[in-house]
Amino acid sequence: MIDRRLFLAGAVAGCFTPGSHGRAAETASLGHRAGTKGLDFGYMLNDAAIAPQSPVGAIVARDASMVVPENAMKWSRTVDAAGSPFYDQADRYVDFARTHGLTIRGHTAFWYRSIPAMAESALQGPEWRATLLARVQSIVGHYRGRVAEWDVVNEAIEPRDGQAGGLRIAPFGRPMDTGYIADCFFAAREADPAAHLFYNDYGIENADAASDTKRAAVLGLLAELQRRGAPVDALGMQSHLGVTWRIDHGKLRAFLRDVAAMGLRIRITEMDFRDSDAPGNIAARDALTAGYARAFLDTCLDEAAVKGVMCWGVHDDQSWMQGDAHMKRADGEPLRPLPYDAQLQPKPLWSAIGAAFDAAPVRSHW
Ligand code: XIL
Repeated sequence: MIDRRLFLAGAVAGCFTPGSHGRAAETASLGHRAGTKGLDFGYMLNDAAIAPQSPVGAIVARDASMVVPENAMKWSRTVDAAGSPFYDQADRYVDFARTHGLTIRGHTAFWYRSIPAMAESALQGPEWRATLLARVQSIVGHYRGRVAEWDVVNEAIEPRDGQAGGLRIAPFGRPMDTGYIADCFFAAREADPAAHLFYNDYGIENADAASDTKRAAVLGLLAELQRRGAPVDALGMQSHLGVTWRIDHGKLRAFLRDVAAMGLRIRITEMDFRDSDAPGNIAARDALTAGYARAFLDTCLDEAAVKGVMCWGVHDDQSWMQGDAHMKRADGEPLRPLPYDAQLQPKPLWSAIGAAFDAAPVRSHW
């Protein structure tokens, strides 16, 4: 049975008829192709993408089933000058999603890197726990019934900080601990009992020793949260990947199985592909990226607990990586991390994602 919204998305793309195969199916929207397998697919949105008449917004409306704001729901973006909750800009993203019939995910209730100045001092004082939980309660409650899922806590693990369990020492001087992380989940559940609640992190996809350590720490954190009865529904795996980094597909597959065995769902939440040191011309780089993405997605989508894939942006020009000095290419060329190029044309990466959806086993939609 095909969901009406997906049917319309396919019809709008002008290339979907029930039971179609071959060429037509290969050009249908990614959201549609994902949807036939019980998956969601979508894009991160920024302010430009949700502006009226944005061509990027039009691509998203056509190609996605789910969206997530890049920054607009982060703590430091959702307070007024006095530090009180202020959701006007974030609300525009929810309006965009509603207008286009898209599901919206909330990112993020608590991230150590997005703390407003006022809260920063409160977090160092005796009221720190109340301050943090009030924030979680406020944003999740504001969007109760309107935002489908939340990254309740983002990036709590940094094994190099040397804490027990690999937990991060946040910049406000308070080490992360499973007690208050669990409380964030309790607060979120109370604020919106229907929202799906995620722990979201990066650096868990690759073959290097750092990924091994981080995978173990993530499993440890999730187990500890469950032991405390915290209402965690899913793991968000950011998947900011590098096309020359090695993936151990056996280890990655085993990790996803371990997460699923805990009764948790999984979403790839921020996928993009850094090609900083990929050799060759644009065609060669794009081919490498497409092949890397296809292999990564094949491994991930084999796990039925994986419920969807989000890209951290639509087109290359929009990627957060372009401005980062550490990610620059030696030849000075811009990176090509996303499914569409700067002229908004779909790239081989777009086709690879679609082909991975076409090849994926069917699962029950979340
Ligand atoms: C990034 C945004 O893309 C940038 O615009 C912002 O300056 C910093 O945050 N992991 C996350 C995202 O969870 O929120 C980050 O987004 C990228 C890394």
